[in-house]
Amino acid sequence: MIIAIDGPAAAGKGTIAERLAAHYRLPYLDTGLLYRAIGKVMAEQGLDPDDAVGAGRVAAALDLTHLADPQLRGREAGELASRVAVHKPVRDALLKFQRDFAAQPEGAVLDGRDIGTTICPQADVKIFVTASPEVRARRRTDELNAKGRAVDYERILVEIRERDARDSGRTAAPLRKAADAHLLDTSDKAIETAFRAAVDIVERARAERA
Ligand code: DC
Repeated sequence: MIIAIDGPAAAGKGTIAERLAAHYRLPYLDTGLLYRAIGKVMAEQGLDPDDAVGAGRVAAALDLTHLADPQLRGREAGELASRVAVHKPVRDALLKFQRDFAAQPEGAVLDGRDIGTTICPQADVKIFVTASPEVRARRRTDELNAKGRAVDYERILVEIRERDARDSGRTAAPLRKAADAHLLDTSDKAIETAFRAAVDIVERARAERA
């Protein structure tokens, strides 16, 4: 079974995807880490993340098996990831790795922005996880504050809106809900409730296919 989870930053898709993978005992790929890794390498090498050709070259040479670096999960890496992700050569270089991951015998859970539309259009279940920008900014602010980092809600809200605009506005595989994806709005849901709703969606999709 292939489960495709897409949605904007900080909507809860990573947590839902990870928990679905554990629940169904499926391998899990957080595809955002691929773009984050490219952004990080470019920063380390002093390359311009807005240079499509350079970014494509880094993407093609990237060792995609080392994605555990905790630095990749930071805010700066996320911003850089969103910038390198607009380039078609980058997306092309990452396509095969993601499709091969999804093609494992037991299936897989992948989360990102274009899984249901581009990477796995044939996925058995597609879920588009979203929440209002205000709710996402509040969650992100609380999360960072809890880690001891003093961040301003208004600043985070601006960043979230900018990231949404860039991820949805690009021409190469933009963030979009696939026509056959189930919408899961987590704005007024605690994570446990959102996870349960995701399991219900998967179970309904399986029953329909059986
Ligand atoms: O999911 P994330 O926050 O780790 O993603 C970081 C950025 O990477 C996101 O803003 C856009 C890009 N991305 C993408 O374009 N396609 C994906 N499948 C996953 C992430």
